[in-house]
Amino acid sequence: MFETPPSRSRRGALRTLARFAALPTLAAALPRWPHAQPLAPTPACGADAAPTAAQMEGPYFRPRSPQRASLAEPGAAGERLTLTGRVLTTQCVPVARALVDLWHADAHGRYDVDGERWRGHVYTDAQGRYRFTTIVPGLYPGRTRHFHLKVQPPGGRVLTTQLYFPREPGNLRDGLHAWALEVAWPRGADSAAFDFVLAVG
Ligand SMILES: [Fe+2]
Repeated sequence: MFETPPSRSRRGALRTLARFAALPTLAAALPRWPHAQPLAPTPACGADAAPTAAQMEGPYFRPRSPQRASLAEPGAAGERLTLTGRVLTTQCVPVARALVDLWHADAHGRYDVDGERWRGHVYTDAQGRYRFTTIVPGLYPGRTRHFHLKVQPPGGRVLTTQLYFPREPGNLRDGLHAWALEVAWPRGADSAAFDFVLAVG
């Protein structure tokens, strides 16, 4: 039901590679195939762009999350991670003032079902950019590692989806996992990136 078409998955992979290839030190760490042609950068938006896929909300969403970019409270357990990116239309136009709402499990795989820990929302700036500082969410039974998000352009439809992490063994066992919904997270980095593409405009 939530599977992603192969073409979209490939586009997501190429987008990730293109992002990494833009960084010289990371490009040197990419695997090299003896006879491979250089990969042409594939835009995340443009003529044949597909919007970011929707996924199920799950049971732990709570409305009216606090507006804040930092979800990591002092002393809280977990590997710190910045999640950043842009909200764009399929025609690559930045969406300013888009709502980006993030919620996820704590480092031990538990959701705060009574309060607001590991929950928050921000609005994109004039260039469509958003940014959260949080942690790498913990695992809980039955799911691979993931973030939950809602993205809404001003006055527009809400996109509910989930984001996944590369190199996560559980990805292969989670039927919801989609390669196109993986964040770009270079090994060892403290920042991961994902651009949302909305069918608006
Ligand atoms: Fe979840």
